[in-house]
Amino acid sequence: MKNRIRKIGMIAAVTVAPLGAAAAGVSAADTEARVNELLGRMTLREKVGQLNQLNSAPFDTLSHAILTDGVGSIINETDVATVNRLQRIAVEQTRLGIPLIFGRDVIHGFHTLFPIPLGQASTWNPQLVEEAARVAAVEATARGVRWTFSPMIDIARDARWGRMAESAGEDPVLASRMGVAMVRGYQNGNLADKSSMAACAKHFAGYGFAEAGKDYNTTWIPDQLLEDVVLPPFEAAAKAGAATFMTSFNDINGTPSTANRKLLRDILRERWGFDGVVVSDWDAIYEVITHGVAANKDEATLLAAEAGVDIDMEGHCYIDRMEKLVESGKLSEATVDNLVRNVLRLKFRLGLFDNPYVEERSEYPSYAPAHLAKAAQVAEESVILLKNDGSTLPLGPAVRKIAVIGPMADAPHDQCGTWSLDLQKEHTVTPLAALREMYGDENIIYAPGLEYSRDKRTGRFAEAVEAARKADAVVCFIGEEAVMSGEGHCMADLDLKGAQSALVEALDATGKPLTLVFMAGRPLTVGREIAMADAALYSFHPGTMGGPAIANILSGRANPSGKLPVTMAKMAGQYPMYYASKNTGRPPLVTSQLDSIPLEAVQSSTGCTSYYLDAGTEPLYPFGYGLSYTTFDISAPVLSADEMDAGGAIDVTCTVRNTGSREGAETVQLYLTDPVASLARPLKELKDFHKVRLQPGEEREVKFRITVDDLMFTGADGKKIAEPGEFRVRVGASSDLKGEPAVFRLK
Ligand code: GLC
Repeated sequence: MKNRIRKIGMIAAVTVAPLGAAAAGVSAADTEARVNELLGRMTLREKVGQLNQLNSAPFDTLSHAILTDGVGSIINETDVATVNRLQRIAVEQTRLGIPLIFGRDVIHGFHTLFPIPLGQASTWNPQLVEEAARVAAVEATARGVRWTFSPMIDIARDARWGRMAESAGEDPVLASRMGVAMVRGYQNGNLADKSSMAACAKHFAGYGFAEAGKDYNTTWIPDQLLEDVVLPPFEAAAKAGAATFMTSFNDINGTPSTANRKLLRDILRERWGFDGVVVSDWDAIYEVITHGVAANKDEATLLAAEAGVDIDMEGHCYIDRMEKLVESGKLSEATVDNLVRNVLRLKFRLGLFDNPYVEERSEYPSYAPAHLAKAAQVAEESVILLKNDGSTLPLGPAVRKIAVIGPMADAPHDQCGTWSLDLQKEHTVTPLAALREMYGDENIIYAPGLEYSRDKRTGRFAEAVEAARKADAVVCFIGEEAVMSGEGHCMADLDLKGAQSALVEALDATGKPLTLVFMAGRPLTVGREIAMADAALYSFHPGTMGGPAIANILSGRANPSGKLPVTMAKMAGQYPMYYASKNTGRPPLVTSQLDSIPLEAVQSSTGCTSYYLDAGTEPLYPFGYGLSYTTFDISAPVLSADEMDAGGAIDVTCTVRNTGSREGAETVQLYLTDPVASLARPLKELKDFHKVRLQPGEEREVKFRITVDDLMFTGADGKKIAEPGEFRVRVGASSDLKGEPAVFRLK
């Protein structure tokens, strides 16, 4: 057994970035004083009212809820005049004038829609994602939204789960960077700024491990998985100053997150020092009853309040039962006071007491040219080039006439993907529109072939085939309608729906150069269709400006640089599937293909190892994969030392060179392996990455730093440890690593 270095500091309370109070010129101490002074004047009913969030409803209903029940938060109201009318009631007609906070799911943009979060993660460009979140905040706050329920940083490793679309993918390092970027973009380092909105790290926690990829399903999460995979993005968000957290619908090992004291108090408050607001997911407090962990609203209210849920989102438990529970002595008012403090603190930090109203303007910032340009830039960097045989792409000068085919070529609603609540589809620029603009209407032959992704009618195939025959190149846009992914939209089968696959076959039969462009909310199992094509681009629902972005890539005006944030499996049955898997005791040395197995084969003839007879063990494409129109060479890593002591660090240097003929960006990824440890460890783990843009022939040195923290994992006793011994370092352009590792030892 290896000795163990216990990194005590690892679980000490981390310093949480100030939530903007200082930046607003008000010290934390002043804010706290204002909170306690106000709390001291509140009645029990007024306190309970602040712990409730109601959905937008007819004005009189909300007016009554504010005046009679003191409700302190509204979700889904984005009409500015109505926002101000409701706010005026709260501020001017209630005894203490406590302002409302208005929340909305601004998940990947408000009006200007960026790629869905899975697409934003495909950029591997946190700075760009932060800029996108800033645009979203500017547009949303102009409509009175000061709280968004984003970033969603659930780790997702099963594409059957519809909410993978909203995630930053399968890896905690990538998800952490993306989550922090969004927190920074939304909050802008100063919550009191009227263009800032409170971020919400969600869904806390473990939601992405819903059994069998079925939404809301139970999760079984051992400490090692919780601590080393699930929690890191949330810890990063807390450190970055995320103003709020949201509890997840699922139970973890039988305890619903909304009633989970270990999560909400021990980890979130005590260990991370979080002092913001915890809101339940929609109706999740009531659902503690449905889970079978509470017999009624009283028990659900008690469990949630004592676990540390500050606001009941549309569960009608707190508003119905909390006052009586306090009056009966079953719930202490001190517990309620602590919940109310968190809510008041957030409202003070947002500056709502000083500036409760939103400016009613003649013009709003939505769809500003700069916003649309940013959306196009993010969409461009999110597109992943999966295949490009014979340099089919970019479409060369000989390609004059292009056949544009497929149900996603001109789908302004579906191109924007899930959680596009404020979509105005007339603003969406589709690939068809963008290609017509770029090549001229007369050079674009459009024949969708299918009306929508689930369309099974093949009656319009002839028209599509005819269009292909008349063209120099065929581009077929296929994938998923927006409603096929997102909350409650899970799939057991990830093949293309409708007759899309048959459409690809029909186009393949024409023999014309065929490019497939996928637009989907998840990685689909599309190996068969990609095999028929010459080139393939993958775009996780690219948003408002997906058309220009894809047209720029098809034409070569832009060079694709997207990388997969999730593993693309060959078959749905391979999920959950992720690169950071373990070796097992029987890694497959060879895999037998189902059809090659002889009749009456000897039982052990296919090898008793860990793989599927019908799918092997490899993915279709690995995590971190994506091609470019140019080529890059990444040198082997060089270490600054071959030994590290407990407090030390090792620098890793490599060189990346653009060995091709055009400018492009490569994402150099650093992976670490702990080959022998007290627990079986993943074969490799992403520890850092750098996206580097290079001119042809240009090379650049890329530096990484590895510290003991990077070597830590959660041991069998649940404590974070780094064990002395050998560690292996590799760098590459995807998780499919080649070459010998560089080795160092932890003393
Ligand atoms: C939904 C989602 C959550 C969202 C909330 C408010 O059910 O689970 O992500 O923020 O309700 O719409």
